[in-house]
Amino acid sequence: MILVTGITGRVGSSASRYLLDNGFSVRGLTRDDQKARESADLGAEIVVGDVSEVTTVKNALKDISTVILVTGNGAHQFEAECLVARESVASGVEHIVKISSMEAGPDATAPIPASHYKIERFIQDTRLKYTFLRPNFFMQNLMLFAHSIKTLNQFSLPLGKAKTGIIDADDVGEITARVAMKTPANSSILGLSGEKLIDFHDVARQISQVLGREITYHEQSHEDFHAHLSKVIPSPWHVDAVSRLFVEIADGALESLSTDARNILGRKPNDVAAFMEKNKFVFA
Ligand SMILES: NC(=O)c1ccc[n+]([C@@H]2O[C@H](COP(=O)([O-])OP(=O)(O)OC[C@H]3O[C@@H](n4cnc5c(N)ncnc54)[C@H](OP(=O)(O)O)[C@@H]3O)[C@@H](O)[C@H]2O)c1
Repeated sequence: MILVTGITGRVGSSASRYLLDNGFSVRGLTRDDQKARESADLGAEIVVGDVSEVTTVKNALKDISTVILVTGNGAHQFEAECLVARESVASGVEHIVKISSMEAGPDATAPIPASHYKIERFIQDTRLKYTFLRPNFFMQNLMLFAHSIKTLNQFSLPLGKAKTGIIDADDVGEITARVAMKTPANSSILGLSGEKLIDFHDVARQISQVLGREITYHEQSHEDFHAHLSKVIPSPWHVDAVSRLFVEIADGALESLSTDARNILGRKPNDVAAFMEKNKFVFA
């Protein structure tokens, strides 16, 4: 059986859907079983609890051979993911598939990628077989601008003309599931990106084509972005972490492509136009 922490999230829900469609048994962890109803209807067993609690994690890990480790960003992420890794060793898990990020590395200074790198190092020091999946920027982040795109035909980000290898989180979920379906001979680290490096003016052009009206990308200052986040995100930790992450992305931290996504999917990953076609009802 495969445990998906974060089964209600973007990657976890997509991964579990793919696993269940392919006949695998899935257990999912969430704090709110109402949010996991779709996965439960598809056949997932749902465990309700907090990923930071030892008892919850121990119970969730019973009879599990593979863990898909994905949790939301937060001050708790390092402790929680290390707890899952530690308890995975104790309960005899064979393979852990961790959702990390493409900026994770020894030079990362922003809290989110720095924490991913520390978690990776923690897992490497256990005897677990691991696959670290390091995705580029998720297309789903564009959903945050649905209202602005709908009402003002524009969106703002503090990323200047920096490029990313933006990727659909549904593809990341499918890749995660495919990787989890078979315990590999060796541990590995895979970078997950779309096919092309594009900036957000290119993203706006692809959105415009699908919606049939002009959408523009406004190059926002980091100060304005920080002020905006402070109004919409209650946690000061999160505001600071996202602001610092976006400074790194503006400096080119995500200007990196990999063919791993295409190789695992056996097809090209979705481009922004395909993502928009699927989700245009949100932006129309
Ligand atoms: N966004 C990007 O562009 C991007 C790019 C690369 C990597 N990443 C990485 O991807 C990961 C996020 O993946 P995602 O977007 O699929 O997540 P998401 O949509 O933000 O969902 C987070 C999931 O984690 C669960 N969770 C959070 N705190 C929890 C807790 N204390 N106890 C139990 N469950 C908890 C949530 O469950 P409930 O709320 O249901 O309890 C939810 O299922 C992050 O580590 C991020 O750094 C993101």
